[in-house]
Amino acid sequence: MKILIMKKNNKNNIKKQFPIFKQKINGNPLIYLDSAATTQKPQDVIDCIEDYYSKYNSNIHRSAHQLARKATEKWIEAHEIIADFLNAKSYKEIIFLRNCTEGINLFVNTYGKQNLKKGDYVIISEMEHHSNIVPWQILQKEIDFNIEYIPINSEYRLDLDWLKKRADELKDKLKIISVVHISNVLGTVNDIKEITSIAHSVGAVSLVDAAQSVARLKIDVQNIDCDALVFSGHKIYGPTGSGAIYVKEKILEKMPPYMGGGEMIREVHKDSFSLNELPWRYEAGTPNIADGIALGEAIEWFNKTVTDLGGYERLVEHEKSLINRFLSNFEEMEWFKLFGSKERLGVITFNIDGFSFSGCKKGTVESNKYGEEIINFLSSKGLCIRDGFHCAQPLHERFDKGPTLRVSLGIYSDEADIDRAVKLIKEGVLRVM
Ligand SMILES: Cc1ncc(COP(=O)(O)O)c(C=O)c1O
Repeated sequence: MKILIMKKNNKNNIKKQFPIFKQKINGNPLIYLDSAATTQKPQDVIDCIEDYYSKYNSNIHRSAHQLARKATEKWIEAHEIIADFLNAKSYKEIIFLRNCTEGINLFVNTYGKQNLKKGDYVIISEMEHHSNIVPWQILQKEIDFNIEYIPINSEYRLDLDWLKKRADELKDKLKIISVVHISNVLGTVNDIKEITSIAHSVGAVSLVDAAQSVARLKIDVQNIDCDALVFSGHKIYGPTGSGAIYVKEKILEKMPPYMGGGEMIREVHKDSFSLNELPWRYEAGTPNIADGIALGEAIEWFNKTVTDLGGYERLVEHEKSLINRFLSNFEEMEWFKLFGSKERLGVITFNIDGFSFSGCKKGTVESNKYGEEIINFLSSKGLCIRDGFHCAQPLHERFDKGPTLRVSLGIYSDEADIDRAVKLIKEGVLRVM
């Protein structure tokens, strides 16, 4: 009993650690259900950034003075924290970047460019975020390889039988399989260990987009055996402009450089240069020092918070119960159209029959009544949810859908958030029906 009370208190305390929730919007509580776009930041992370700028702001890996030494130590320490968090073998396998998008672009333009030739195949899936589609399409224009998509079956899952068969047909022409771990629209959790093993069975490599999974599932890159994995810091309670890519050291050793400049080199002469050690050879120029260090702080905060909650299983259980609570409230509503299966994590995506939504890209909606009035009403009441394609237009097209609405959860989301969101969405729809 005592344990239960302690855990409940910890859950209630989570929101209090986020200063943004202290504010009112037009006298209403802030209900933030847009964490798949970006999470809010706990005070510890905000303090860490302030600490850097007010106490030891300095460039890293360069000067030998005290401030520079401290900043460099903290920068390396942040890499070590991420390596431990993902269970990488060493911090040498962790490259800091601005976000997940930059990580995928790095992999495409280094490993991809080096290993793909005309006629080869890259397989992605029908549920990818644009950041795992467009970089491949750009490189395809240069190299003329083929891109295929793992189909989604009627249960909104990836068809891995298709993938196995296709890998067997393509054999060594298949070079890379790059897939999302949790879809930011369907909330489907993909079996990335199985997908990696299919890639390896024909000598291909796997890249995992962990943007939505890193803050809700335990990631162990050695267990998954993936060759590379990317995530954004801002989706795991860290600052914007921070993120990382993990790449196996044996692959990194052979990969060509990405950007050239200071810090990625050991020596430079008029007609040559030599490369710095890993991972610094992939971090050219002055990086986002404050936010990278604060990403380390965010991961430490997250680890501690998950432990206090009772582990990842409890986090997932809590999220599933919030999703069920939300969905059960709309069971009787004929106008509520869920996109995807009820079995999902992180996001609930849906349409309101008869209305169209377009996010910030106005003018893309052609048919049906425009749902702007509903969105404006929800926003005026302090409810933050997202409308649009959620950067996954091919997925929407696959199911013949226009833009959708999305409610997404964070570690601070609770029953009160869900109940208020349900009440406001019903009210907003009834006002305009
Ligand atoms: C599944 C997925 N992949 C990639 C991204 C891109 O993340 P970022 O914009 O931080 O680079 C997102 C962002 O929403 C995402 O949800």
